[in-house]
Amino acid sequence: MSPIKFNFENKNVVITGGAQGIGFEVAKHFLQAGATVTVADFSPAALEITSRELGHFKTLKAVTLDVTNRKSCTDLADGIPGNLHILVNNAGITRDKSLVKMSDDEFDQVIATNLTGVYNVTKTLLSKFDPQAPKRIINMASIVALYGNFGQTNYVAAKAGVIGMTKTWARELGKKGFTSNAIAPGFIATKMTQAMPKEVLEGLAAKVPVGRLGATSDIAAACLFLASDSASYINGAVLSVDGGLVM
Ligand SMILES: NC(=O)c1ccc[n+]([C@@H]2O[C@H](COP(=O)([O-])OP(=O)(O)OC[C@H]3O[C@@H](n4cnc5c(N)ncnc54)[C@H](O)[C@@H]3O)[C@@H](O)[C@H]2O)c1
Repeated sequence: MSPIKFNFENKNVVITGGAQGIGFEVAKHFLQAGATVTVADFSPAALEITSRELGHFKTLKAVTLDVTNRKSCTDLADGIPGNLHILVNNAGITRDKSLVKMSDDEFDQVIATNLTGVYNVTKTLLSKFDPQAPKRIINMASIVALYGNFGQTNYVAAKAGVIGMTKTWARELGKKGFTSNAIAPGFIATKMTQAMPKEVLEGLAAKVPVGRLGATSDIAAACLFLASDSASYINGAVLSVDGGLVM
């Protein structure tokens, strides 16, 4: 299948958690489409691999970021080359346990990264957006925010909160040239899902109407579409990319 051709030349993109999994693929797609991309990630090792694998794109910048740390977010903002056009809030973690077994720390860590982290980065980068050009905020939510999931009190709460912030920003920022949308991936083959038992993953794949887990490129394609001029009237939406798992 040949991907839709987008042109993001002269567009400045920041992708949090962009050094692995879905974020890495999103970064690669934007670079291939000509964008200037700042990959901002917690993991120095993953950033090093990103720089090695995508370093032939001269418009790549790989920087360290901890979305839970506001000073780190300010450093990110200070290092952005020129005006920002597209922000992809993608960094995320899981600490899965049933409610009975979940520690307070596991709850707090996931909220700090997956919910407060999205607030921290967006709030800090808001003033960096280009006042003259269309602006895009794309938040990585999850289908589990729409229907709950066993063992994910912390994660589901955070992702449901992300959907709420997405819609609030759609209202607050729409007249200022922004669109704010969320992507709700289904189960995508990445390090995050590799943490799940194999038989659980096989069971999940069997339940997906298209009969497979998602690929990172499925999410990247949706992300580039929402970032493109073709999606300028899509605002406050939650785009499920899940093979029809949740309908
Ligand atoms: N994989 C899936 O099936 C799936 C499904 C639904 C939603 N999602 C969401 O998609 C996003 C990406 O998931 P993935 O599967 O690619 O995960 P991943 O674990 O492969 O990658 C996540 C990246 O986020 C980075 N990160 C973690 N904490 C950070 C922090 N404090 N500051 C900055 N970066 C940090 C990690 O270093 C990593 O590079 C997440 O928000 C996740 O919740 C994933």
